[in-house]
Amino acid sequence: MALHGLGKVTIGVPNVEDTIAYYIEFGLDHRGNGLFATRNGGEQLEITHAPTRRLLELTIAADDADDINAIGRRLNRLGQNLQQDSESVSSVEPITGTRVRVVIRPRVAIEPPVQATPYNGPNRIDRWGRAPFLARAERVHPRKLGHAVLGSTDLSTTMKFFTEGLGFKVSDYIGGKGAFLRCSVEHHNVLVMAAPVNFLHHTSWQVDDIDEVGRGASAMLEANPQRHIWGLGRHHAGANFFWYLKDPAGNFSEYYSDMDTIPEDELWSPEVLEGVKGLYAWGPPPPPSFLEPDDLAALMTGAHSTKG
Ligand SMILES: [Fe+2]
Repeated sequence: MALHGLGKVTIGVPNVEDTIAYYIEFGLDHRGNGLFATRNGGEQLEITHAPTRRLLELTIAADDADDINAIGRRLNRLGQNLQQDSESVSSVEPITGTRVRVVIRPRVAIEPPVQATPYNGPNRIDRWGRAPFLARAERVHPRKLGHAVLGSTDLSTTMKFFTEGLGFKVSDYIGGKGAFLRCSVEHHNVLVMAAPVNFLHHTSWQVDDIDEVGRGASAMLEANPQRHIWGLGRHHAGANFFWYLKDPAGNFSEYYSDMDTIPEDELWSPEVLEGVKGLYAWGPPPPPSFLEPDDLAALMTGAHSTKG
């Protein structure tokens, strides 16, 4: 039938133990050996060892064998090497070296749906007394993995792999420098950005509402304010609330809520977002390290020494 979201990300890091501890605190459920589950999406993160941080594998969730077969045919047409069985098809994205696996996986179902949070407005009382979020005693636990953002040294080839090979649709463009791609009803599941080196920019994890974005990030920063990267704010592309933090390996992790959805392709027209629109609608100004993480130069040197 269709692709319906990201299944899992496998991130290679040099400091496995510290990074595992970070994602436990981030609110993911550690099942052991660096494998983490979200509240509703099953196993969605794996932390494993690599000499420098990188996205080793990205799993995309599909409904059935027809999807696997169709993607296998399209990847073949692109000249990609691939491994295929009745349940999955996988191939290495040629620029970033990330193995992308499309697997049959159940859709993330939250039943009954999470109720809308009531917020008061001018001359509109939707809640009485103290705000209900004040009673939330539990730590924030993300519902599911939403998207991953990749820097690529060859934007058009990486985009072609995801769109022509896997069937992702373009939701919006960031000038000529990147594109928001979807494989579900959410505005983006993968964002590919032009970059001087191939790297993982961030992974993003859905929480219930803006209060959970704020509560989650505040808890992460309480004893470790240096984890703060950028937030609280709201994006233009996808319109989600965001707050970005940095894990001990240098990968950014984002709490997000309230992203645009696109239930019918006909109801959406991609736009080319120029200037800051590609980045955000409101919030504090993004720090330079958001676009160019502090370790990019080191990653470039590492990439060269690996090749050499
Ligand atoms: Fe994001």
